[in-house]
Amino acid sequence: MTKPSALDRATQQHQWRWGRAELFSRAPGRVNLIGEHTDYNDGFVLPMALPFDTAIAASRAPNGSKTEILSEGFGHAVLAPASTEIESHHWAVYLHGVHDLLKAEGVDPGPWKATIATDIPAGAGLSSSAALEVAVASAILGFAQTERSPAETARLCQRVDNEMVGIPSGPMDQMISASAVAGHASLIDCRSLQTRPHPLPERSVVAIMDTNTRRQLVDSEYSERRAACVRAAEAMGVDSLRDARLEDLDLLPTELGTERRRAHHVITENQRTLDAAQAMSDGDPETLGALMNSSHESLRDDYEVSGPALDQIVEIARQSPGCFGARLTGGGFAGCAVALVQADQAVEFQARVAQRYRTAQGLDAQIWLCEPAAGASVTTADA
Ligand code: GLA
Repeated sequence: MTKPSALDRATQQHQWRWGRAELFSRAPGRVNLIGEHTDYNDGFVLPMALPFDTAIAASRAPNGSKTEILSEGFGHAVLAPASTEIESHHWAVYLHGVHDLLKAEGVDPGPWKATIATDIPAGAGLSSSAALEVAVASAILGFAQTERSPAETARLCQRVDNEMVGIPSGPMDQMISASAVAGHASLIDCRSLQTRPHPLPERSVVAIMDTNTRRQLVDSEYSERRAACVRAAEAMGVDSLRDARLEDLDLLPTELGTERRRAHHVITENQRTLDAAQAMSDGDPETLGALMNSSHESLRDDYEVSGPALDQIVEIARQSPGCFGARLTGGGFAGCAVALVQADQAVEFQARVAQRYRTAQGLDAQIWLCEPAAGASVTTADA
């Protein structure tokens, strides 16, 4: 028997707890093909949505009742009218944050009950929290019958991360979850949030390789990287590293050696990302794969956000037949890597990488072969 989807489970569990759901929203996780640690530098990214969703089934509640959420795996939370005291590390902060920010903008559909389920592995770097934010925003906007562009939704959800959770992340995760086009990755300009969809090169497949490692303290490393980028941009006299050129690195004094390497990564990664989008337009998986390989080296050596398990699985992937290129994906340190693989070799690739990684690292890697999925959507029971 196949496992019911997140949306089916949320709908069923809602029925058990609160009765028939009237509104359904879903938002996908993401994998980034290239353009890492560029989004908070106003740069370019090239992610795609995954066929794994966070889903919400919801129904209106009578005026005066509480807005409540039931989450498969996490339990129950009350959003309103009472609980202003949710801590930043509590799962419900994402819901609470979206709810409060929309309310502050005048979007308040009154009390509702919601049931949440997800198929996105948590903590793997596949943006389960961004998908949760976007799914909640879509549900609230659906109840309020209010339209927002994907870019507006993404910026609002990014504020939850930045202002409420305390992670100074960029807009990539929320933007791809809100706006993805099925069958395509999207080149996103993180300054304007303009997107351009690009189909994967023919006869190629994306493999996501979860190293099955997780790392604490990633948040402080992330904030520290971002701060180094700000210092580098200031020292070069530009608003953000998006505006810096390679020759501007010479403006950095020698004592800013770390900042120089961080900026070198960002400047070259922006160019690689634009080149990768061009390679996709040209239907050229070899060039795309080579750019992914260079991205990994730059993240490992200049940005210093790789780790032993990520380096290992990337190396194993690259040595496997049919691999065009591989790199760590997302924030780094642990979690997932991504590879572009020749479609007719993908199943053997999956088995071979898992087996070699187990031998080398003593851990079981999860490897998914994915087609790019569509971004968030919302429907009603009578639609
Ligand atoms: C995390 C953040 C994103 C982005 C990536 C690195 O996933 O949430 O905004 O900065 O790291 O590219």
